[in-house]
Amino acid sequence: MWETVRLWVREARHIAVLTGAGVSAESGVPTFRDAQTGLWARFNPQDLATESAYRANPQRVWDWYVYRREMIAAVSPNAGHEALAAFSQRHPGRMTLITQNVDGLHQRAGNTDALALHGSIAEDRWLDAPRVCCQVDKLEAGRPPRCRVCGNLRRPAVVWFGEHLPADALEAAEQAAHGCDLMLVVGTSGEVYPAAGLAFAAHQSGARVVIVNPEPTPLDVVAEHCLREPAAVCLPALLG
Ligand code: OAD
Repeated sequence: MWETVRLWVREARHIAVLTGAGVSAESGVPTFRDAQTGLWARFNPQDLATESAYRANPQRVWDWYVYRREMIAAVSPNAGHEALAAFSQRHPGRMTLITQNVDGLHQRAGNTDALALHGSIAEDRWLDAPRVCCQVDKLEAGRPPRCRVCGNLRRPAVVWFGEHLPADALEAAEQAAHGCDLMLVVGTSGEVYPAAGLAFAAHQSGARVVIVNPEPTPLDVVAEHCLREPAAVCLPALLG
């Protein structure tokens, strides 16, 4: 099976790679839905990853993002991120990397043009549409920081439940899904749309789909092969 997938990688004209939290698990970043260690096993997403939760309790949600931001700043890309970055550098234009991860580890490994469907935890933006008074160099410090004139809050530049994905990144990801001949789906539970739908789009457009995940997922139905290994083992073996 491995040799077959390695051959598909060599032969593919264009490869789309869709990643999720599992690709960062071996860097020490917790996933969301793993039963024991996942963030959503310990925290309720409705309390921490929605706009209404932020408006109800901005300090609590801000502090949770600061905690994750600091944890992520202390870890490093792993062999999986590095294999993807090395492949893109060796084969310019042959791979589109689409990620649901907000941790920036693909970018730190060298995939600076990864399509970040769910934003970036390292960045902030305004909660409400900024007015003339809203200037990032004139913030009132606090948790969260706010405009010192009108009180508009800063918020993490991530996509929360119920929010739209960045239109440009989603459109480019959809184009890659429809245009690729091989899609690798790595370390995602396939539970969250529209990202999960990209695997179905690739399959419907005639691409081979290969899943890299130690556990079964709802996307397995469209996969030609499911490689039940950790990403940091699988990706160097497939792409090296
Ligand atoms: P999940 O936590 O839902 O799924 C992580 C997947 O990674 C699971 O299927 C695991 O089996 C798999 N996994 C764990 N360790 C792995 C490893 N070493 N190698 C490969 N796979 C491994 O994370 P996502 O699918 O990314 O949204 O979740 C999607 C979105 O839901 C996230 O982007 C986040 C979350 O709510 C936002 O923050 C908007």
